[in-house]
Amino acid sequence: MAEKNDSWVLMVTAQTPTNIAVIKYWGKRDENLILPINDSISVTLDPAHLCTTTTVAVSPAFTQDRMWLNGKEISLSGGRYQNCLREIRSRANDVEDKKKGIKITKKGWEKLHLHIASYNNFPTAAGLASSAAGFACLVFSLAKLMNAKEDNGQLSAIARQGSGSACRSLYGGFVKWIMGKEENGSDSIAAQLVDEKHWDELVILIAVVSSRQKETSSTSGMRETVETSPLIQHRASEVVPKRIIQMEEAIRNRDFPTFTRLTCSDSNQFHAVCLDTSPPIFYMNDTSHRIISCVEKWNRSEGTPQVAYTFDAGPNAVLIARNRKAATLLLQRLLFYFPPESGADLNSYVVGDKSILKDAG
Ligand code: ADP
Ligand code: DP6
Ligand code: CO
Repeated sequence: MAEKNDSWVLMVTAQTPTNIAVIKYWGKRDENLILPINDSISVTLDPAHLCTTTTVAVSPAFTQDRMWLNGKEISLSGGRYQNCLREIRSRANDVEDKKKGIKITKKGWEKLHLHIASYNNFPTAAGLASSAAGFACLVFSLAKLMNAKEDNGQLSAIARQGSGSACRSLYGGFVKWIMGKEENGSDSIAAQLVDEKHWDELVILIAVVSSRQKETSSTSGMRETVETSPLIQHRASEVVPKRIIQMEEAIRNRDFPTFTRLTCSDSNQFHAVCLDTSPPIFYMNDTSHRIISCVEKWNRSEGTPQVAYTFDAGPNAVLIARNRKAATLLLQRLLFYFPPESGADLNSYVVGDKSILKDAG
């Protein structure tokens, strides 16, 4: 009797960098479609440093969709994973691998199951945007596997339904997530403002204050803020729209003083609305506060800003230096004030974008 050949596996691996917002997204107007209450702007890091690597595989031998995150199986039953899988599956096309003798038709994808393995090379759920790199990578690798023909803008709208910040990781450089107006979310997509070459003197350093998983996820944190903070509406409707215009201009002109003023103020206002939430949410800790004081003092003593700081929903500092010289001085200062061997609570420094550590050696 002829045996049915169901031993084949077809797979695709992709890598996607994380992105850090300089004008932050915090608050949804639609929880299911993930539609934000304001525009946001971010910078995408170099994939050589902080990134997600995801492998998606399909085989007739698989009996259900399964996913492993950092080696541990996780449930795909949540709406976010299901939304991303459904959206990409509905855009699948014929796929043929002649060498392996495999042909999957558009219809064939409906019956096939997926296995997904994803790794983050940086702390997960610690405020370094793992959900951004994670969902962008998931959507990108699925689209490749299933031969979906969507462009990055359309893929960004699908990644957005996994995690809002993920839509901005489909592009390099500085990226804007336009909140959009449509109820179905069709115009809530990411667009590249400038590519990674536009402002390549910038050096991004990440000081890992704690790699522990945060107590309040971004999703529940922003839900509680929208429900209870009297300040959030003012931020979303009055403050952020003006900052978005100024930030776009600062980025286009490579105007570091304005960029720094806006980035630091927006990070501080985001943490202020977290504090204005009931019960209050504390993402930063004493070390985060000491880093802010250190940078503020240094910037003031130099007369012109050398470094911008921003903290996402976690205690870890993202420090953006104006050039390599400032980054080297910053690293020296951090090592002096928070020496790793002293048992200080700053346990590592990850250098993003340009590796100044590599050059120093
Ligand atoms: P972060 O600040 O790291 O983005 P969030 O609270 O926004 O933290 O999201 C963390 C969640 O994102 C994780 O609990 C997990 O559900 C999801 N996530 C993280 N990394 C990945 C990944 N590589 N693939 C898919 N989902 C991921
Ligand atoms: C502080 O995108 O992680 O990092 O859409 O619920 O998955 P969900 O939240 P997420 O929130 C990110 C919040 C932030 C700011 C930002 O990235 O803009
Ligand atoms: Co996140």
